[in-house]
Amino acid sequence: MNKKIQKIISKKNRVKIVCLTAYSKSIAKILDKYCDIVLVGDSMANVLYGLTNTHKISLTNMIQHSKSVKLGIKKSLMVVDMPKGTYSNKKNAKKNARLLKKITGCDAVKIESNKKNFNIISELVRSNIPVMGHIGYTPQFNKKFRIEGSSNIEIKKLLKEAIEIQNAGAFSIVLECIASKASKLITQKVKIPTIGIGSSSYCDGQILVTDDMLGLSGFYPKFVKKYAQLNRVIEKAIKKYTKEIKLKKFPTNKNLFQ
Ligand code: KIV
Repeated sequence: MNKKIQKIISKKNRVKIVCLTAYSKSIAKILDKYCDIVLVGDSMANVLYGLTNTHKISLTNMIQHSKSVKLGIKKSLMVVDMPKGTYSNKKNAKKNARLLKKITGCDAVKIESNKKNFNIISELVRSNIPVMGHIGYTPQFNKKFRIEGSSNIEIKKLLKEAIEIQNAGAFSIVLECIASKASKLITQKVKIPTIGIGSSSYCDGQILVTDDMLGLSGFYPKFVKKYAQLNRVIEKAIKKYTKEIKLKKFPTNKNLFQ
């Protein structure tokens, strides 16, 4: 098994796993200093491309951005989301995941669970492609955003799903918007690390969409803590730039080639 993957697994029950998303080299370079995992998320569909969901982002888009992210990464584990439709059967999953890994140099792929695609995970793992699972709110398959795992029946189903994903060979699982009690139980019962987003501090690690936590995306559900308000910082800079051009304060001699 890849050493970086082993290192992530070894953190379970020891130290929290830090993860964030990146779509470009400049952000990846900063994240790489602090994060254990950098995810090239298909959330780029909403965040970068302004689409209403993640369904239309293409493998070509994911490859383009992943190539850029890879240039910023030295030590963290790079995981790339497989877009909707690219892993609907064993054959296309294998072909597309191999392509992603070969062209981008990523360490692993993430696939969302539709509650029955466990055989896709085992097929990829058998082909030497490490897989991160994703349960709870799965934007590629769920139409409506909702918290899962609030009832005992749902907790049982989620736990069963997480165990199936583990048994299929995934090295970790994202738990998205799963109620605290359920995410605690899943984290206790599975041997692989759970990475939470809106799923409580019981998870072995946490992930957020970087643009959300930096205050750049305009999408701030309860689970997003804004660590910066970069929208304000950027607007202030652009406003100053505009003003200085109009007042002929920029460029000055310092900015010119003589
Ligand atoms: O696409 C993405 O950014 C994700 C994270 C929210 C886990 O899947």
